[in-house]
Amino acid sequence: MKKVKIGLLGMGNIGTGSYKVLHMNHGHILETTGLDLEITKVLEVLVDRDRGIPIPKEIFTQDFEDILNDPEISIVIELLGGYEPATTYMEQCLEKGKHVVTANKAAVAANWERITAAAEKGGSLFRFEASVGGGIPCINAITTQLSANVITEVMGILNGTTNYILTKMGEEGKEYGEALKEAQEKGFAEADPTADVEGHDVANKLSILMSLCFGKRVHPDDIPTTGITDITKEDIADAESQGCVIKLIANGVRNGDEVTCFIQPTYINKNHPLAGVKNEFNALFLKGNAVDDVMMYGKGAGPFPTASAVLGDVIEVAKLV
Ligand code: HSE
Repeated sequence: MKKVKIGLLGMGNIGTGSYKVLHMNHGHILETTGLDLEITKVLEVLVDRDRGIPIPKEIFTQDFEDILNDPEISIVIELLGGYEPATTYMEQCLEKGKHVVTANKAAVAANWERITAAAEKGGSLFRFEASVGGGIPCINAITTQLSANVITEVMGILNGTTNYILTKMGEEGKEYGEALKEAQEKGFAEADPTADVEGHDVANKLSILMSLCFGKRVHPDDIPTTGITDITKEDIADAESQGCVIKLIANGVRNGDEVTCFIQPTYINKNHPLAGVKNEFNALFLKGNAVDDVMMYGKGAGPFPTASAVLGDVIEVAKLV
């Protein structure tokens, strides 16, 4: 048995989900991997929030240094979201030799060079499976099993909140605002849902995917992006009349050294596999020059699916160190 102590930065929806999944599956993980994982410190101001699970008060701290300087903590999970202080905290942990796991696509997409330089300096591991596609293990697939391929295209539905809204508007005639509120209540949306509905969250994810698939850094701000805020019930009815549904599609194509990309609401014929991707589910298509087409499908948002990816990274790192 190997005891592994973990520091958690942020206990919002995903942090709480990760704590709960670890509690639920601790015995299974111990039995199958020999790893005794324990979250021993949590950086969080909202100590008294009802999280639906008893959490010992003494593991909460309001001082990041308590986690950074705890020699027993070898892995830090960053779930604060946003650029700062998340990026600086990750850098400091990595430079100090602590391994970092994050779901923070905004920080990974914008500050990739800073974070990876810190990991190199500290000889630490950095994992970010949960940053793209929620519970779909796409980062792992791209960086391991598919790495013998030249990947020429990556496309799909990469945001659970907008897909949930479009599904509820299309299938149940719900108003945009009502569907967004539901997505927020279910823990799919970002703290500021503008990032979801205006497509910036997808831009972060497509930027990360293109870095991994094409070896090309395209900053999220440089990806032509249209969100779903202008989609009306009339647009949805018009798509329906043509045998289609509207989906927010991300697309990146590599042609030699050139990369083209965009994010936009798109009419998808109801016979197309992407039309069947509903609610918070995401789907990702890749084209590799050996494997040909690959499609991955699963829950792209929500506390438990995202926790699955976070803890998968933690287990992988804990096995390696
Ligand atoms: N807000 C994101 C979404 C969370 O709705 O897809 C998962 O990245």
